[in-house]
Amino acid sequence: MTSRRPGRTQARDLERYASLFSSRTQNMRSSPMRDLMALTARPEVISLAGGLPDTSTFPAEDFAKLMSHMAVKATARALQYGPTEGIDEVREAIVRVMAAEGTDVDGDDILVTTGGQQVIDLVCKTLVDPGDVIIAEAPTYPGAVPTFSAYQAEVIQIEMDEDGMRIDVLEETLERLDREGRRPKFIYTIPNFQNPAGVTMSAPRRRRLVDIAHERELLVLEDNPYGLLRYEGEPLPSLYAMDGGEFVIYLGTFSKILSPGVRVGWAAAPRPVLQRMNIGKASADLCSSTLTQLFVAEYFAAGQWEAYMDELRALYRGRRDVLLESLAKHLPAEASWTRPEGGLFIWATLPDGLDTTDLLAKALSRNVAFVPGRAAFLDGRGGTSMRLNFSGVDEDRLREGVRRIGEVVHEQLDLLGSLTGRRPGAIPRPSERATGAEPRVDPALADVLHLPRREDDASRRSSS
Ligand SMILES: Cc1ncc(COP(=O)(O)O)c(C=O)c1O
Repeated sequence: MTSRRPGRTQARDLERYASLFSSRTQNMRSSPMRDLMALTARPEVISLAGGLPDTSTFPAEDFAKLMSHMAVKATARALQYGPTEGIDEVREAIVRVMAAEGTDVDGDDILVTTGGQQVIDLVCKTLVDPGDVIIAEAPTYPGAVPTFSAYQAEVIQIEMDEDGMRIDVLEETLERLDREGRRPKFIYTIPNFQNPAGVTMSAPRRRRLVDIAHERELLVLEDNPYGLLRYEGEPLPSLYAMDGGEFVIYLGTFSKILSPGVRVGWAAAPRPVLQRMNIGKASADLCSSTLTQLFVAEYFAAGQWEAYMDELRALYRGRRDVLLESLAKHLPAEASWTRPEGGLFIWATLPDGLDTTDLLAKALSRNVAFVPGRAAFLDGRGGTSMRLNFSGVDEDRLREGVRRIGEVVHEQLDLLGSLTGRRPGAIPRPSERATGAEPRVDPALADVLHLPRREDDASRRSSS
């Protein structure tokens, strides 16, 4: 038996295989969240970088009960292959979950997938040739960026404001593409509590987006992992519900409402698209885990899921508020951030001249992490922004995490002040602030989401 050499991949090892790699791999990039996970796994690190639900809230006794019930009922089935499209009981559970958000769906229009991430991959696999255009939001889900890159898509990112994607800008872009004889393969949107920006697409914009899809016969990928995690305000209809099953592909997942560990998500789509995705899935993994699908089915049959959702919403609402308060206390007056009505993320933008990729290295040395804004763009924008997660750590750690981030931000600002001659005093520390001035928006960065503080944030800041 030959022994394997331990240690890291050497440059000469890479050289040996490089000529075998497909041209596609040149476009592949790793996911910053995945990379960060290795660094943030240490218990002393306060990670606001992940998109992790707090799985410690799931009672261990319930888990044991569900697993043993499933084993008694269906050991042989749980250990067997299943159909590519997913087992019937899970598709029934999905119909119920979508109904809870006011969306009717036929179980036959559903493909169960290995997490929501697989839907993004399968949609690209089904629709995208190298050089094809995908339209996405600016910023977009950082986990979709490596997928779009791997399929060699040209991604055009449309700016957002507090009502979500700017549909007027989308229309201008579609007009321009039309003139160039190009048709985007799909429009990718996360309408509820967007990852990473935290904003929600307004009802009129949803209506207009669906109308555009119909008028121009364009597909829309509606990515909705967070719709049920609403902490305030009224739910809005899904694009899928508005569309009537013609041009919207819906992505759902159990990751944030039950567990990302089960790796069960789904797509609901027009049949011809779904059939192609099914073939694509079969070639990728034959079927999603029967074992975890049966666990999901057992969980929904037990009938407790809505009570658990109430618990999660109460917990995350509290954490969101703590994060908002901490940002007001520790970030400089020129910073701005979003105030999400649900979901897991806040998008914060720092004063010009700061770079969150550089800041991350410093933050990590103080054992705190966030996702730098550039991860949410394909064109290098987002350098002054960061994504902050509030679901994965408790309130005390959230406070401490933001305090440390505030410290590195202020140190960096002081350094910048001494290098550029800008008076550091021009950037007041929290204790020196009187009232909240509106953050300045650099016109060159106007296509990066900068949202002014809301009234309640301003008043919190002045009282802090
Ligand atoms: C917008 C969005 N889409 C898709 C996914 C992937 O979901 P899953 O963990 O079910 O693969 C995530 C996960 O964070 C997400 O935020």
